[in-house]
Amino acid sequence: MAKSLLAGNWKMHGTAESAAQLASDIADGLTLEAPETIVFPPLVHLPLVIAALADRPAIAVGAQNVSQYPEGAYTGEVSAQMLANLGCRYVLVGHSERRTLFGETDQLVAEKFAALQGAGLIPILCVGETLDQRQQGLTLEVVKRQIDAVVARVGLEHVCQSVVAYEPVWAIGTGETATPEQAQEVHAYIRGQLTERGQSTRLLYGGSVNADNAAALFAQPDIEGGLVGGASLQAQQFLKIAQQMVEQG
Ligand code: PGA
Repeated sequence: MAKSLLAGNWKMHGTAESAAQLASDIADGLTLEAPETIVFPPLVHLPLVIAALADRPAIAVGAQNVSQYPEGAYTGEVSAQMLANLGCRYVLVGHSERRTLFGETDQLVAEKFAALQGAGLIPILCVGETLDQRQQGLTLEVVKRQIDAVVARVGLEHVCQSVVAYEPVWAIGTGETATPEQAQEVHAYIRGQLTERGQSTRLLYGGSVNADNAAALFAQPDIEGGLVGGASLQAQQFLKIAQQMVEQG
C-alpha cells in the first residue's frame, strides 16, 4: 500500500496570523512527491487558511467537527453543507477528544458521518481504545464496535470510501506512541474487517506521531498515512514526517 495521506490536526491552537503562516509554510515546504496532505485548522480560521492555500492544490483543508443536523435552531453548530461551501474536503469524526470530553457516542459519530456524506465531504473516522480497555484485552472489540456503529448507519461501502484513523486514546498528546507492531496489529484487523466483504479503505495511524517515530510506523504494511496533532503545529516537524512517508513510499 502506498503511503498516501498525511493529516495535521491543529486542535484549538493558534491565532489567525499563525494559522495562515503555518499553512503557507507547510505548502512551501511540500515536495512534489509528498503524500496527499490535509490540514485541520480551528473552525474560525478555516476561511483564512483556505484563502492562504487558494493556489496550492497539493494541500487540502478539513474541519475538526461538524453538526449531525443539516440546518435549524442549533446554536453554536456548523453544518456539513456550510463546511462544503467554504471549500473543506475532509472532516474528522469520532476523534477521542470529542468522544471523551464532549460525550459523543458511537451513534452520534455515525450520524455525523452520514451528514458529511450527504454534503459530499470525506469523513476521517477516528477509532481507538483507552489504556484501560487495552489492558483488559478489549482493543479489537472496541475498534470493531466503533466501526460497526457507522457501518450500521451508512453501509459498509461508504465506510470503505472514507478514511479510518486508528488513534489509541492513551497515545494521543501523551508522547507515548503505539509501537509499530501494536499499531500494525490493529490496522491489519481493521483492514480485515473492511476487506472481508470485498472492500478496502485508507488507514491512518495517529497518536504522538513525530519525525523520530514516523519512519518505523509508516514502514508497517497496513499503515498508509498519519493523523498528526502536536507535531503538525510546527511546519518543519510536519514536513519531516511527510518526508519520512515519501521514503517509506
Ligand atoms: P497527537 O494528536 O499527535 O498530539 O498525539 C493526534 C490526534 O489527536 O489526532
